[in-house]
Amino acid sequence: MLFKEDFAWGVATASYQIEGAYTEDGRGLSVWDVFSHEKGKTYSGHTGDIACDHYHRFKEDIKIMSELGIKAYRFSLSWSRIFPEGTGKVNEKGVKFYSDLIDELLKYGIEPYITLFHWDYPYELYKKGGWLNNDSVGWFADYAQKVVELFSDRVKNFITFNEPQCFIGHGFEQGVHAPGLKLPYKDIFQMCHNVLKAHGAAVVAMRQNAKQKIKIGYAPTGAANYPASDDAADIEAARKSFFECPPIVNDNMIMGSVSWWSDPVVLGCYPEEGLKMYKEYLPDITDADMKLISQPIDFYCQNIYNGKEVKADEFGSPIIVDRCLGHGKTAAQWPVTPKCMHWAPKFLYERYNLPIFISENGMSAHDVVSLDGKVHDPNRIDFVNRYLLELEKAIADGVDVQGYFLWSFMDNFEWALGYSERFGIVYVDYNTQERIVKDSGYWYKNWIESNTNGKN
Ligand code: FCB
Repeated sequence: MLFKEDFAWGVATASYQIEGAYTEDGRGLSVWDVFSHEKGKTYSGHTGDIACDHYHRFKEDIKIMSELGIKAYRFSLSWSRIFPEGTGKVNEKGVKFYSDLIDELLKYGIEPYITLFHWDYPYELYKKGGWLNNDSVGWFADYAQKVVELFSDRVKNFITFNEPQCFIGHGFEQGVHAPGLKLPYKDIFQMCHNVLKAHGAAVVAMRQNAKQKIKIGYAPTGAANYPASDDAADIEAARKSFFECPPIVNDNMIMGSVSWWSDPVVLGCYPEEGLKMYKEYLPDITDADMKLISQPIDFYCQNIYNGKEVKADEFGSPIIVDRCLGHGKTAAQWPVTPKCMHWAPKFLYERYNLPIFISENGMSAHDVVSLDGKVHDPNRIDFVNRYLLELEKAIADGVDVQGYFLWSFMDNFEWALGYSERFGIVYVDYNTQERIVKDSGYWYKNWIESNTNGKN
């Protein structure tokens, strides 16, 4: 059997996308509350005010997870539900919500994986300069410390950041996500550096204060480019393209970079190529910073959705291959490229040499409730099936893959796209908050069953 006995077969969500209850029980605002309430920022003005009302329905949701045989649940904490002002006074009711959620998961034998930060930055801290303020490193470390003090008696796995590429890239480079700014690159690189330092400072704080031996990971993303053939030259070209530092064009630098965000964390240095290319924008980077940023972590996560096919030119340099006519794509227009699930984990494992988790993968479809009352989503089944078969190839190649989190457990607030895209394996009727397990949910249950306990 390729997948290990204790493989973490999971689903993922994020606080702002599902919880709702945005002003309830003392929760402070996040930048996403403010942004989504501004005119014209999200699809049809959608907000996460209610979202999936998970704050009130988490027991029902966890029960569904357990019925589907889910073994691990990756969710994020709303920082401003715990610290309404980002720092200082703790909101006991917010803490109770997460504490009850954790207990409920454990009751069903579902392993919690907590992401500390999945984009809903406390608004009060944003007003103080947010990631641009050098104090942001300490704010995040204090928050991380509190989280392990509160929950590490029961939770063993923590992830610091989700997709720093996106919250900095979409939020401050392109301005399409909260807080909706387009800042000069000097500021952006300062923020990147502070986020990386915040990651390291959080790792230190968590290790020092954890109540048991915990495992810590980091969950970036990036274009998961893969080779056009098994030819050694194409493989090398794809690897190069996977890790290269993109030039600053089309407001797309921060979004595209795997190595800029991961080399410092795992290898303790920024990629040389980027240091040269971005030189004029970079802040002071000291040895002490790099030491802090590269605190050892236990596992490496990557959110993997798609990539581009790459072949080598006559000099071995990468060329992006045009997608074929009529290539597969999801409702959100994301290309369907299963091969990236073979190559991305392999490239990452070879470079970073840490156990790999796929912290997100899945697709949006315009799912509807059929006349039979069910939600039939064959495209999603086919998508997940194809990607998982490719993941098996990575494992067969020797990559130590320890978990897979399907995005998402349920349909939810898809950031600037509001509720217009459905990524769940559980359908949510946003008018009644009724949940309906989609065909893909049952399919995933079967997949999990047949890939554990010595089967397959
Ligand atoms: C990722 C995000 C996640 C969700 C999926 C579809 O970039 O981490 O919150 O929006 O995409």
